Amino acid sequence: MQTKPLYLDNSYQKTCSAKILDVQSDGKNKVIILDQTIFYPEGGGQPSDQGVIKNSSGTLKVEQVLLKDQNIVHIGKLEGKLEPDQEVKCEIDWDRRYKNMQVHSAGHVIHEAVKYLLPDSFPVEAKHGKNAYLKYQGQIEKTLEHRILEKANAIIHAKLPIFTEFVSLEELKKRSPWVPPHLPTNKPLRIMWIANFPPIPDGGTQLKNTEEIPGISEVNISHEAEDTLVNYKINSSTNKEKPVFSYSIQTKFDHTVLQNLKNEALAMIMGASDAGELERLRIQYLGKSGQLAEVAKQLKNLDPAQKAEIGVLFNDVKTAITDALGPSLKIKNLTAGRHDLTPKILKPDPTLPGIPRPLGHLHPVTQAITEISDIFAKIGFTRVRYPEVEWDWYAFGALNFPEGHPARDDWETFFVDAPADPKLGKMLLTPHTSSGQIREMETTRTPPIRMVNIAKCYRRQSDVSHTVMFHQFEGLVIDKGINITNLRGTIEYFVKSFFGPDRTSRLRPYHFQFTEPSFEVDISCGICNGRGCKLCKEGWLELGGSGLVHPAVLTAGGIDPAVYSGFAFGWGVERCYMMKSGTKIDDMRLLYDNDIRFLNQF
Ligand code: PHE
Repeated sequence: MQTKPLYLDNSYQKTCSAKILDVQSDGKNKVIILDQTIFYPEGGGQPSDQGVIKNSSGTLKVEQVLLKDQNIVHIGKLEGKLEPDQEVKCEIDWDRRYKNMQVHSAGHVIHEAVKYLLPDSFPVEAKHGKNAYLKYQGQIEKTLEHRILEKANAIIHAKLPIFTEFVSLEELKKRSPWVPPHLPTNKPLRIMWIANFPPIPDGGTQLKNTEEIPGISEVNISHEAEDTLVNYKINSSTNKEKPVFSYSIQTKFDHTVLQNLKNEALAMIMGASDAGELERLRIQYLGKSGQLAEVAKQLKNLDPAQKAEIGVLFNDVKTAITDALGPSLKIKNLTAGRHDLTPKILKPDPTLPGIPRPLGHLHPVTQAITEISDIFAKIGFTRVRYPEVEWDWYAFGALNFPEGHPARDDWETFFVDAPADPKLGKMLLTPHTSSGQIREMETTRTPPIRMVNIAKCYRRQSDVSHTVMFHQFEGLVIDKGINITNLRGTIEYFVKSFFGPDRTSRLRPYHFQFTEPSFEVDISCGICNGRGCKLCKEGWLELGGSGLVHPAVLTAGGIDPAVYSGFAFGWGVERCYMMKSGTKIDDMRLLYDNDIRFLNQF
């Protein structure tokens, strides 16, 4: 080509001087060829520039510029005379050019939005004039219109820089995962790219930043035979003052790369409309061969001082992107067996189900507590709650433990470092829910009492079947004529409701200070159904204590043991839950490790 295309290096150059190489006539019009020009010739979908070419002897009003026989020809009406070898001044109609640039760069933004949603889309044609469109091979669903619009505007709002450069075809292939076919191999290619999107060959004029595009107002999808037309319109800008940008054409690595990457990533994350997209962004930016990993590679080549400075920025950018993405949802597992989220074909199916949002659920212990309360509510037990920080009197004294009785040690109690109450004794953390018995008697005063007190208990023990904090549920029934058969029936009712109709229970004589007689309750093993196995040895699993309320306890609670009698039982919630068929929890501590992988299973 004889004419040097200055517009490829600087799309913002409004004037230049040049030497006339040739002047021809084309009917009414003159055709002028220059040694260099800022006039953009029609092509690549972008309309040509207009303006004037003049010197003291003549003026060509340029109406059309074309690429003809390897030359850029300026066509228009000539006033006066212009001759070869003369020096001339060129001036383009800047408003027209700038508008064309906006539409053209907007086309690239649209393309990135399309590529983003449909990574395998294949562009075949583009026009960036009045009726601007991009043509893709294959069918793109019309339902994607608003997604493309949204994504394109997100790119614009992210104020992403647009770069241009001349490179060899090999270089382009290295830098871009997709290169259009039939590119010339014998000369440098002009490429353009937006921020960290891959570069594509482009011979048009480009803005320096997407923020110069006043916004996309419309995206329209229509179909033409096998292809899809993506038409777009940009907002009409009222801003006459064109923004001035200080970006230089960027080929080397510095902090702006990171800054731009961050802007882009955050904008994309904000624009993402579902979890699948977020996960794709996570891979794109934070993945093993993601964009940050690419940047990290380049960090190695910097000199130490620069490395230190950019390293800090790198970490900030990484944190910002990680924070914006939020915790990983392990989408991979969630969607396994559903559908692939990456739109591999040009035609996504909008009827596919969305990605299920991970639904939380209550902690298994909370679930068990609710179930237990419900079971007892059905037979008239009221759920009650009493203090977790208690007095010795309620936990031991009133429960018939004599002063200094060694039985207090059985409960391995945590005492609170607080002054003792002269009447109620030391302050402690409830070692069992039996403290609620006396509290309930004091509150209700006259029986009948039918309570279930479910509360946190604390003891100094931690192993596979104990946690320092655990829950008990305490049943207490006081009325006239209550006896062991009532206890027996209640236990059997609970065991069948909670563990299942195949399970049964038995009472084993035992000793507690606050019940007389006292029993340990066993339930038949869920594994061997009472026949005996590795887990239970003799066919029974120990559930917890029970008995008839000791007359001394009734008296301490202000109830006359000559008139009333009662029964009580107190069992561990966690222990019961673990004994439920199918839970298969072999270590109680797992319940409180807060490991979401464990908790998710219940
Ligand atoms: N409080 C006893 C314990 O923690 C259980 C129990 C409750 C025993 C009620 C009898 C009556 O082991």
